[in-house]
Amino acid sequence: MTFLARRFIAGETKEEAFQAVRVLNGLGMRTTLDILGENVTSREMACNLADSYINIIDSIAEAGITANVSLKLTQMGLDVSDESCYENVRRIIKAAAARRNFVRVDMEGSNYTERTLRLVHKWAEKYDNVGAVIQAMLYRSEPDIIELNRRGIRVRLCKGAYKEPPSVAFVKKDDVNKNYVKLMKLLLDNGLYHSMATHDDAMISMTKEYAALKGIPKDRYEFQMLYGINRSAQAHLAREGHGVLIYVPFGKHWFPYYYRRLRERKENIIFLARHLLRG
Ligand code: FDA
Repeated sequence: MTFLARRFIAGETKEEAFQAVRVLNGLGMRTTLDILGENVTSREMACNLADSYINIIDSIAEAGITANVSLKLTQMGLDVSDESCYENVRRIIKAAAARRNFVRVDMEGSNYTERTLRLVHKWAEKYDNVGAVIQAMLYRSEPDIIELNRRGIRVRLCKGAYKEPPSVAFVKKDDVNKNYVKLMKLLLDNGLYHSMATHDDAMISMTKEYAALKGIPKDRYEFQMLYGINRSAQAHLAREGHGVLIYVPFGKHWFPYYYRRLRERKENIIFLARHLLRG
């Protein structure tokens, strides 16, 4: 793993990830663990990965750490078939329910949005420990949130990390931010325990202000951030008494996640280029 990847990824093993979780828990933050991997095309591999998630859920309980899990449906066989993906994730959600734990279904590129939400709706009909992710960059997100609210499904709101065409998504950062604020209000007004996933100071301030204006207490929502990004803001929010959850990715298949983190911020690319040039 390259030195810059280590900033964003807790390590390649479960032990390294748990060590990172213990440090974050010690700072008053909850965590969600992501076993890195996506776009699995073998039914058997997807099934084995589901077993790995069940193993992690058991290990979390045995280790006494505060962590739930996040997973991607293309890792669970969505490219193989909806049916096998449904069954793999159902097993994970069931195992998590037995441990009173929670499963968050990450959101991938827009060509998967409809199927992902349809499956989340289906799991949520049977289990109440599954949540969705909504991307503020997509035009469709407002009606999607209204439907998730109606079904009582918890939402993580993020801006969206995938490159999308203007036919489905806002292109300008300003428009994404405006939509983020609009959707944040829709979530806070709903009263379920929803999550605002962002490192953007403006989005965080507006969330705090709106919650204060509406008299929504700090224990009715949380902020989420990614491992290694804006650590001082993470600690600051926790010290203020806000719920803070850190997304802790680990595993051998780290490159696509790392690439998205690099692409998000040109300073990361410049930093990496300088380091490589220095040899
Ligand atoms: P923005 O990109 O405007 O960044 C605000 C500030 O944060 C920057 O100015 C910089 O200081 C810091 N920052 C942001 N990204 C950085 C980086 N890569 N390196 C260094 N500093 C950085 N997306 C998705 O499509 N599906 C998903 O399921 C998820 N899940 C998810 C979970 C959690 C907990 C978080 C926090 C984010 C996601 N995302 C995601 C990613 C999300 O969509 C988005 O790409 C990033 O969070 C960056 O957007 P910000 O809201 O931070 O704002």
